[in-house]
Amino acid sequence: MIFFQLIATVILLLSPLSCGLLSSATPKANWENVEFKRIVNVLKSYPHESLELVIKNIGSTPESHYYFTLPEKVFKKASIFSASLPDHNIYVDSSPDAESTVREDSEDIRYILVQFPFEVAPDQEIRLNINFMHNAGLKPYPEHIQLGTPQNLLLNTNKLPHSLYRTLKYNLEFVGGQGLSEVPTFQDSSSDGQLDGEVLKFGPILNIEPFTQSNVSVTYVREAPSVRVINLNRNIWISHWANTIQFDEYYEVTNDAAKLKDGFSRAEFMKGQYALKPGSYLIGFEMMLPEESTDHYYTDLVGMVSTYKIISNHMFLKPRYPLFGGWFYNFTIGWTNELSQFLHTDGAEQYIASIPILNGPLDTFYDHANISIYLPEGAEILDLKSTLPISNVNGSTEHSFFDLSSGHVKVTVEINNLVDNAQKAQLFIKYKYSKYMMYRKPINIAAYIFVALMSFFFLKQINFRIDP
Ligand SMILES: *[C@@H]1O[C@H](CO)[C@@H](O)[C@H](O)[C@H]1NC(C)=O
Ligand SMILES: *[C@@H]1O[C@H](CO)[C@@H](O)[C@H](O)[C@H]1NC(C)=O
Ligand SMILES: *[C@@H]1O[C@H](CO)[C@@H](O)[C@H](O)[C@H]1NC(C)=O
Ligand SMILES: *[C@@H]1O[C@H](CO)[C@@H](O)[C@H](O)[C@H]1NC(C)=O
Repeated sequence: MIFFQLIATVILLLSPLSCGLLSSATPKANWENVEFKRIVNVLKSYPHESLELVIKNIGSTPESHYYFTLPEKVFKKASIFSASLPDHNIYVDSSPDAESTVREDSEDIRYILVQFPFEVAPDQEIRLNINFMHNAGLKPYPEHIQLGTPQNLLLNTNKLPHSLYRTLKYNLEFVGGQGLSEVPTFQDSSSDGQLDGEVLKFGPILNIEPFTQSNVSVTYVREAPSVRVINLNRNIWISHWANTIQFDEYYEVTNDAAKLKDGFSRAEFMKGQYALKPGSYLIGFEMMLPEESTDHYYTDLVGMVSTYKIISNHMFLKPRYPLFGGWFYNFTIGWTNELSQFLHTDGAEQYIASIPILNGPLDTFYDHANISIYLPEGAEILDLKSTLPISNVNGSTEHSFFDLSSGHVKVTVEINNLVDNAQKAQLFIKYKYSKYMMYRKPINIAAYIFVALMSFFFLKQINFRIDP
């Protein structure tokens, strides 16, 4: 039972991006953003935003709800949203509303309800931190480059908070990019970003009205690919009988980096020794596997076995060709681990498997992932919990080889907008599996082998008769 307490704690850390019970009406503006500091980190292939707010209840009643807003295009591509109260050292519930879209001027925005575990009295202030990653507003700039020229990325984002509440003091910083600079936009040709070392700073900007819109575009050099997994199908097979857990993953990958201006020439690529230099092309994948994995494989769409190398718990894959901007690559990998590494039991035929949500490469954004877990036949699923938001859970039965009487029990979890740090997140699946069911399986296999041998025997008999 200690285990379930552990799960509960983890789930509080990252609250679900799923249901919310908000009406579409604009909520009351009974807060004021006394301070609003926003840091956009562009080190990875997707931006990571950290917001530090001091908010004040300017209403006449105690309040525990704060509405955070995001532009619709960012909301749709947002990943791992979390809100916390640094003075109380706790993460708080935040539930984006799937239904309410509010059109303010020209841009659609979405509300995210942040719920404090206590009420804040009128005139009181509280510090609130918000963190999320997203994959919106980023593109190569220019779109096409020549092999060997550095790549620039351009990030277009809202410059001002665009909040439901009035903001008294606002600061915006861009960090993590090489050669960060502001690009004058069509609507706003004023350029007021200040470069302070490697940090591009805006503000302080004072007294910003609710829903004020303003864009900013920044560019920076990024000599690395922008790996995006369009689809991941991850299948995990649990076998009590063999004490194994087998992972099988199918990836559909693209690189959102700048495209090649003059097309690809393998000769030029080899001659310039580009494989050894940093660039916006992808040379290989470094998959982060669980410890002590065995029986690895790697194939791509031609179905041939491809080159890989295992170093400790990293699996290095080398595609047949470097992956340039706009190119696609689909492949399958797999491996096996001991089941006991992932399984906990209370001894009474109930089990909890804790399964990592991802084992893919670092610095990667996932549009969509399907994670299917196959339990032994006869298992009964009691509960499924995730430390990440899940968009759809479905249970069904699928047949597999050697399951002659009934099928494996399968549960599929679909998750949109994942980032590589979800590797630290787990799926917990609680199920019942009786010893009787476990012993039934070898008997089935024995029966199957017996039948196979018998047929072989009869074939031989026939052969003997035809060709003595
Ligand atoms: C901000 O940019 C978006 C497109 O990226 C545009 O639709 C919108 O009108 C711009 N808003 C302002 C206030 O410039
Ligand atoms: C590879 O993935 C891409 C992107 O999802 C898809 O459009 C394409 O059909 C896939 N190719 C094959 C051969 O499966
Ligand atoms: C993901 O799983 C769902 C439900 O099992 C299925 O309908 C969908 O086609 C799957 N997606 C992919 C990309 O395989
Ligand atoms: C699971 O999928 C089936 C069809 O594949 C559908 O009828 C059912 O409603 C789904 N269940 C859930 C919980 O999504």
